[in-house]
This record gives sequence, structure tokens and C-alpha cells, in this order.
Amino acid sequence: MTGSPWVVPTFNARAGEAGLTGKLGPSAEASFRMNKTRVLTGITTSGTPHLGNYAGAIRPAIAASRDANVESFYFLADYHALVKVQDPARVQRSTLEIAASWLACGLDPDKVWFYRQSDIPEIPELTWLLTCVAGKGLLNRAHAYKAAVDKNREAGEDDDAAITAGLFMYPVLMAADILMFKAHRVPVGRDQVQHLEMARDFAARFNHIYGDHFVLPEVSIEENVATLPGLDGRKMSKSYDNTIPLFAPRAELLSLIKGIKTDSRAPGEAKETEGSALFQLYQAFSTPDETEAMRRAFADGIAWGEAKQQLFERIDHEVAPMREKYEALIANPIEIEATLREGADKARKIATPFLGELRRAVGLRDLREAPKSTTKTASKAALPSFKQYREKDGKFYFKLADGEGAVLLQSRGFDTPKEAGGVIGQLRSGEMSVSHLHETATLGEGVSENDVQSALDALRAADEAKA
Ligand code: TRP
Repeated sequence: MTGSPWVVPTFNARAGEAGLTGKLGPSAEASFRMNKTRVLTGITTSGTPHLGNYAGAIRPAIAASRDANVESFYFLADYHALVKVQDPARVQRSTLEIAASWLACGLDPDKVWFYRQSDIPEIPELTWLLTCVAGKGLLNRAHAYKAAVDKNREAGEDDDAAITAGLFMYPVLMAADILMFKAHRVPVGRDQVQHLEMARDFAARFNHIYGDHFVLPEVSIEENVATLPGLDGRKMSKSYDNTIPLFAPRAELLSLIKGIKTDSRAPGEAKETEGSALFQLYQAFSTPDETEAMRRAFADGIAWGEAKQQLFERIDHEVAPMREKYEALIANPIEIEATLREGADKARKIATPFLGELRRAVGLRDLREAPKSTTKTASKAALPSFKQYREKDGKFYFKLADGEGAVLLQSRGFDTPKEAGGVIGQLRSGEMSVSHLHETATLGEGVSENDVQSALDALRAADEAKA
């Protein structure tokens, strides 16, 4: 991955240029008007949001969504959840909890696109189109799939024992999520970088075969975003069972905080901030001044019990107002369901026409439409060309050949290459018409003036498109 900071997408620059010539495809035109950075993130609905999710993802994402130059797309990746979780009640509960959490934390569904993946039927449909260009060899190398295979080998099992095709296809579904909405930037953790590279690969292959339809997304690795330690000091993560639920009721929050691992230093003994889970958690919920005060308290030998009480106050201070909203939302799933459905309607305003464009591009078309190739290679191969050369008689000649190489026009001999080139220039620009060629050039076998004229027109159109 490039790792370069994402500033202005080439995508916008290109659309801007093309805008001046007035030669935009429908999707490029939309992007030209739009001219904003599209940021997209999916949240897998397989668990309950914890403080680590909040500080590492929810809080920074909601802050970023308030930037007027950004269009934010946040969605509940419930199709992805099915790869990991086959407990329907848990998928449903997690979807409710994650939606309620993001809304309670201040996500404004009117300013962003907030939707549930499974409400957008265009996504699985696009997944199939991408599946048909995705290299199987590339999917074989996906980290998550490879790790599962390695585990089987270690256990002396068949390579693919208990591995579903869902796990194998996970990166293609994720590519569809991203490409569907022409996201420019996808903020992810390091573990997702390979998925982003794959999305770019599938998009480039598709574009190569069917023409420029997809934007190639940039990965942005969230380096300076907090990863919080869990109760045992390791990274807070569901898989370590060391999490503090974001919206645990006050009493539970306090008792969990009391359980954070500390060393055995007694009250009055100076304490290390370095490597202290308690201190790191405190820092994530405090201003620099408050953090500084706590650092001094550590040096002055604050008792662990007292430090934990202060940590609880800090966290509860930030979380309490949101907890109230969260509880109200959870108690009223009707409202969340309606919000998600509205979000899906808004997202499908983009997805439905774009999928229509893609279906036509690959040939899933209305049979009444005149057949036409939209593949890039076909249009390139069809382009005619001029060739200049010198014969044994010492004179300079040119030919015009069609895309297949058949001669359309054969010139007479000129004394200098400049003269030959001059005639080519006049033909290309339209200054000299085919009917005025006379003795300058003769038509190829079975070629009409019209054939030559349309070849020249095609060349001129290509020249203008390049200019
Ligand atoms: N795979 C992501 C994760 O596990 C979730 C996800 C699904 C996602 N689709 C996405 C993230 C699209 C970013 C973009 O965290």
C-alpha cells in the first residue's frame, strides 16, 4: 500500500479536467459535481460495542463526519457477521446495539449515509459481478483464510475442513461494499489493509475489462487513534474477554474498573504510568491537563483504589449523557429500524442506478438495445492509424489502416517526409476532405470514401478525447 496521506484524489482532478471538455460519462459527471472526499466504513454486527471500539473507531469517525468536505458512509456489515456468527439472535441484538451506540454517540443520520448492508440488495449483486473478475489465487492468499488453513494443517485435518466459502469470499463482499459507493478513503486497522488491496485489484481488473466504472479506494491506516488496553492490560478485544462495554450501567462500569489489573504497590508508593492500563484508559478520556494531574498523582503515590475511582468518574462523565440516549433507543427499536430503512433508501439512490450502469457494462442488458461493446480493449483495438515509411524509390509514403490493419488509403510518393506528414495533418484535422484527395492518395481495395471518412472521424474523436 502507498501509505501516502490522502489529499486530493486523482479522481476529482480527472473529473475536473474532463468537465472542461464537456465529455463526461454519467458517473464521472456526478463525481465532478460532488467533489468531496467519500469516506466509508463497515462495522461487523457480531458483538457489543466496548470502550475500545468507542475510543478507536466510533468517537473519531463521528468527529470526522462533521467535516463539511467529507461525505461519510457508515454501515452495519451484517452479511459479514454471518461469516463469524451463526446465532440469529446474536446477529439481531448486535445490529440493534451497534446502531443504537453510533446514534447515541452523536452520529447524525441526516448528514451521513447510515445503513444496514443487508438492506441494499445491490451489494450482493455487485459481489457476484466482482466474483467473476476476482482472481481465485489472490483469495487463496487472504490472511484470514490462510490462517484457517494453517490451523487445519497443524491439527492434521484436511486443508479446508470446516472452512466455509463465506470466509473465502469475505474480501469480495467487502470490495462490493466499498466500490458500490465509490469511496475514496477507507479508514481501517492494519488487519484490514490486505482487504483494501484486494478491493483495488478487483476494481482495476473490472475497469480494465469493462471500462472505467470504479474508483480505486485508498486505505488510510488509523495510526494515531487510541487502542485501549483491556482489564488485563492486553489490547481491549472481545477475543481476549477483557472488555468494558461502552454502555454498561454505572454500577457495572464501576465494578469492572475496580477489576483492572494493577501492580501491588501500596498507597503512598510512587507508581509507574508507563505500561499502566489504568493510566492509558484515563488518558483516553481526559484533557491533557487532567492527564498531567494524574501523572503527578501517580508520582505522589495515589492509592490504586482512588485512581480507579477517578478513572470511573472521567469515563462516566463522558459516557453518561450518551448512555441515557442509548437506553432510550434500545428500548424503542421501531425508531432505529425506521432510521436504518431511511438510510437504505438514501444509499440506494446511489446504488440502484450505479448497478444498472454496471449490469449494462457487463452485458446484462435489455435485448431491445442495439448491441455495443463497452470494453476498453475493443474500442482501442478498433482505432485506425497512419503509418509513414520510405520506399526503395527514395520517396516518402503514408498509409491509413483500420484497427485490423487493412489498408484504407495509400498515398503517392512525396519528396520529403514533411510533405507526407503535412497531408496526414490536413486529413486528421479535417482541413482536407477525402473527396479532394485526387492524385494525393488512392483508396484501398473495396474501400469507399465513406469508410475513410469514418476512420478519420474516429481518429479525430480520439484526439479530442485525449486533449
Ligand atoms: N471487515 C471489516 C472488519 O472486520 C468490516 C467491513 C465490512 C468493512 N465491509 C467493510 C470495513 C467495508 C470497511 C469497509 O472490521
